[in-house]
Amino acid sequence: MKEVFLNVRENTELAKGIVKMKLYCSSLPEFTPGQFVNLSVGNFDGVLLRRPISVYKFNAAESTFEIIFEVKGKGTTFLSRLKGGNIPATLFLGNGFELGANVKKVALIGGGLGCPPLYSVIEKYKASGVKFYTYLGFSSESKAICVDDFSKASEKLTVTTDDGSLGEKNFITNAFKKDIFAVNPDVVLACGPTPMFKALKALNTGIPTFISTEARMGCGIGACYVCTCATLTGNRRVCTDGPVFNLKEVIL
Ligand code: FES
Repeated sequence: MKEVFLNVRENTELAKGIVKMKLYCSSLPEFTPGQFVNLSVGNFDGVLLRRPISVYKFNAAESTFEIIFEVKGKGTTFLSRLKGGNIPATLFLGNGFELGANVKKVALIGGGLGCPPLYSVIEKYKASGVKFYTYLGFSSESKAICVDDFSKASEKLTVTTDDGSLGEKNFITNAFKKDIFAVNPDVVLACGPTPMFKALKALNTGIPTFISTEARMGCGIGACYVCTCATLTGNRRVCTDGPVFNLKEVIL
């Protein structure tokens, strides 16, 4: 965890109301896929709390990383307009996804804005020969993001939408269910909304499954207990104990 200042290199709208930002840091700390950053929005229009946002891509050689977020309040509106500048931020927070040396096949399951952080897992492990089977679900084609990147990097990509405007009209967990035995992944990694996690749990696959959860955050560093989630071993802090948890331990 490190306090830094970030420079906005790119700020582009990927889909309606969804923005991708490329950020430069002169001394980028080490990064584990699935970790997040906490970005200051200054004191924009009375907004003080930092915004926790997951990392999409990480480039140590360039000393840059990319994030994707939805513009839905004062803080994210402020961020979506930034160019250049020196944004105070805390990098990188949380535990992230770690793959054991015996993991050769991974199923990635993303829902909406939960898709981008899964790409950082591919970036880290693809060079080690790990194969990725990716399942991305969106509400509609107008909200679909990162599809080309996942398509190029995955053995197989399946996309579903709620309205059928892109890919199959289905829930992404149903599409994954049809492939479970054919793909037979060593591990499943998922990031998305709670109903998606519930559907995944209901599949009862027996495959080790890790989910990146989302929670409202205050401090982002484990001090305020705003972000707790219920697990079989008691309440845990999403910002420091997570955001990645074993699905079978989380009470949804
Ligand atoms: S946000 Fe403060 S403890 Fe997690």
